[in-house]
Amino acid sequence: MDKFYITTAIDYVNGAPHIGHAYEKIITDVIARHYSQRTDDMYFLTGTDEHGIKIQKTAAAKGITPKELCDENAQKFKDAWNALDINYNQFIRTTDDYHEKAVQKIFKKLVEKGDIYKHSYEGLYCQGCECFLNPKDLTEDGLCPDHLKKPEVVKEENYFFKLTKYKDAIIKHIKDNPDFIVPAFRANEVLNQLEDIQDISVSRAKSNVQWGIDVLDDPEQSIYVWIDALSNYITALGYDTETNSEKYNKYWPADVHVIGKDILKFHSIYWPAFLMALDLPLPKHIFAHGWITIDETKMSKSLGNVISPTSVIENFELKEPDAFRYYMATSAPCGRDGNYSDDDFKEKVNAHLANSMGNLLNRTLSMLVKYFDGEIKEGSKVASHPELVSGSLELLKKALGTVKIVENHFNHFEIAEAAQEIMNIVDLTNKFVTDNAPWTLAKEEKMAECAQVLTTVLEVMCIVAALIYPYCPNIAKSMAKQLSFDLSVKLDDLTADNIKNGKLISKEEITPVFLRVDSELADKSSKK
Ligand code: ME8
Ligand code: MG
Repeated sequence: MDKFYITTAIDYVNGAPHIGHAYEKIITDVIARHYSQRTDDMYFLTGTDEHGIKIQKTAAAKGITPKELCDENAQKFKDAWNALDINYNQFIRTTDDYHEKAVQKIFKKLVEKGDIYKHSYEGLYCQGCECFLNPKDLTEDGLCPDHLKKPEVVKEENYFFKLTKYKDAIIKHIKDNPDFIVPAFRANEVLNQLEDIQDISVSRAKSNVQWGIDVLDDPEQSIYVWIDALSNYITALGYDTETNSEKYNKYWPADVHVIGKDILKFHSIYWPAFLMALDLPLPKHIFAHGWITIDETKMSKSLGNVISPTSVIENFELKEPDAFRYYMATSAPCGRDGNYSDDDFKEKVNAHLANSMGNLLNRTLSMLVKYFDGEIKEGSKVASHPELVSGSLELLKKALGTVKIVENHFNHFEIAEAAQEIMNIVDLTNKFVTDNAPWTLAKEEKMAECAQVLTTVLEVMCIVAALIYPYCPNIAKSMAKQLSFDLSVKLDDLTADNIKNGKLISKEEITPVFLRVDSELADKSSKK
């Protein structure tokens, strides 16, 4: 694999981030970190979407300028991603000067190409969606089905983009590339929407929408927020209608745009059409994730159940975001909706991260210290005596096989499914320990067998550390440290021979990699 370019949706900054936004950034970061274990050239872009009527109105209601609102809230997003260890390479704000200039040029190029024309229009505009709605898509009461608000009747002279010109090419692209839209079950929805697609308005009258990028040569119009927003994926790389930027040439087309299912239409219809009009290649995959609910209820300001991502970390006094990352990343099968609840969070991370995975490493290292003074004995590797302990060779093979299975899941953005495979190998390893009872072997003075059991488990734990790293980078680092294992190894270079002979660890160096949430220990450590 030569390079991997991944992006998130850019969030509207009319409020602070919530755990739905966090979910997307976490799963993107997990995918990005996984691919950083497969290529040296991974690039991860995120950012904020700062123009449009919604932001203009929110700022006006607060009595501040739109720019002040954007600055204040963009910082909250950055702070939240920092707290969650979201390891992006670039954060773009659509109010960044280079972006605004590039968008103006992109618009101009589309006008020159003849794909944008002026037209008088009356339509129903939903501010939540930042788009005109088709009357047939409204609820019985005439509300936007997503935002349950009455759209505004807008009558303006606007610029229009000839979306219809690209309809057949987009249909063909979706049909020819069954993995363009992930998960595949969403492609039919998009094909249905394409059936009755119209040309779209791509500007708003400046008299109605002041907070937007001016159309060059026609400052009475501001560029439609979705052209502005979608373009971020290429302007961030330095594209400004010329394809002479090094970064653009290196990274475009994107390997995947990670977005929520509510904005799939914009990414799988509008964006491909704009790119085709600009004569640019299309992204390889659009991965539409599901929706996160809280206690099975839709998050909303009016219900007062909006949870901020950092509040989970604070409430449970987590030293590191790993547990929250793990929980979110495994909360739903690929593309399906997930749910957050405090009780479920506690139960799952305690069971998986503390009991199954953390304890396994902890007690194995403790036995190594107790029986072997923390030393890996010469000849204790499975390869030297594969017949010595039944099941040890199979376990190692299975662990290496899991690497391939996990990679394959990631090829399809199945990150909860991949995590399940990691936990399966952890469970098998726990069973291996129980079946072989190294404490009994030690009592019976079968030290060669005992050593092989422990060494085998530690070999598997190196593989587990590498595989869990994208979800739980801090836990993985702590595991790797105690195993003297180099976490920067590429997945394809992983072997079953990671542990070096000789002294591995002393008693004082053994630390639990994850403390149970709400346990007395966790309580003490967070109050230290
Ligand atoms: O749509 N669960 O911004 P946005 C899961 N600016 N994901 C959620 C969610 C939830 N409860 N709520 C929101 C926009 N999201 C545009 C994007 S991209 C060029 C422009 C996801 O702040 C949502 O699906 O409304 C989207 O992918 C992202 O958060 C930003 O949503
Ligand atoms: Mg939204």
